[in-house]
Amino acid sequence: FDLRHLNSFGISAQAHRYVRIESLSQLQALRTQLQADTDLSQLPRLILGGGSNMILSEHLPHIVLHIAIMGRQLKAETSDAFIVRAGAGENWHQFVLWTLAHGYPGLENLSLIPGTVGASPIQNIGAYGLEMQDYFDSLRALDMQTGEVKTFTKQDCAFAYRDSIFKSGEPGRYVILDVCFALPKQWQARLNYGDVAKYLQAHNVATPTPIDVSNAIIAIRQSKLPDPALIGNAGSFFKNPIVTADLRDQLLRQYPACVSYPQANGDYKLAAGWLIEQCGWKGYSAATVGVYEKQALVLINLGGANGAAVKQLAQAIQADVLAKMGVSLEVEPVFV
Ligand code: EPU
Repeated sequence: FDLRHLNSFGISAQAHRYVRIESLSQLQALRTQLQADTDLSQLPRLILGGGSNMILSEHLPHIVLHIAIMGRQLKAETSDAFIVRAGAGENWHQFVLWTLAHGYPGLENLSLIPGTVGASPIQNIGAYGLEMQDYFDSLRALDMQTGEVKTFTKQDCAFAYRDSIFKSGEPGRYVILDVCFALPKQWQARLNYGDVAKYLQAHNVATPTPIDVSNAIIAIRQSKLPDPALIGNAGSFFKNPIVTADLRDQLLRQYPACVSYPQANGDYKLAAGWLIEQCGWKGYSAATVGVYEKQALVLINLGGANGAAVKQLAQAIQADVLAKMGVSLEVEPVFV
């Protein structure tokens, strides 16, 4: 089974087995089948949502569980929040638009992020001053080890910057079924991220509604980030690195324009895209992979890319940024 159209980088990858899962009962039946069949139970498992944060190898010995559990509804209302639930297989951006159209604000800063609702907690997606964890309520997942359906609170998930227990704890153990968000009745726009306020001002929007903010974010993202339907990519390829104040001061002396954001503990977050651009990689092209010309943090498929070519380019960039800037970049998507 070729996964080419099921991963945003557009990598052609042959998977040993592929199963599309549309309900909890299907997933439970598959789990029973896996347990009964020793050959099947030996296979490594790949849980696939929108495939927007993974780089696949050409031949995957895996059994692929493609999660397509749908449904969106208002589950409950408290005095200060709308509790909204969505199936793991729902497209993230369509879900955000649905919440806004129904008058449930809060997720607008996360408009246009590729992928599915079920993938959103795995790396705690974030953009424009908001992280998914800010409005996360709870999620349900099937424990593939015990067969139990477990509810996870925010604390259980151990969210961090682009991380959670589902990414760095026991990846593959839990299959997320649906996610609940607590969306605020007392809403305030989050415009602390420079470009968004600037964009709204330029368009004469003085008191933006959630939909105005969403439209601004969509326009800003479209101006900087490649549309995966047209140019294969996995969004930011590296995390923004966090460095000590000493290293940041050293860099500032050498590069007065170095972009950095102070952290609560005195460290600094650097803009990986800025570092990569300074090292001369922006717009770089190898045979099948390259660096996006408008955002150096995004690696792109120039046509026919495979996992090995992506890895090679990522490693070359990491080595160069380390040699020139003394900063280690950590890869953000998962290599399978
Ligand atoms: N910059 C450059 N050159 C570049 C790219 C960026 O100089 O080629 C500079 C920009 O001028 C700006 C700073 O770096 O001063 C930050 O750039 P940008 O606002 O584009 O955001 P980012 O830090 O590169 C992060 C997230 C994005 C998210 C944006 C907006 C990570 C790894 N990436 O990117 O998330 O959309 O902020 O909030 O945290 C993703 O994770 O896939 C993703 C796209």
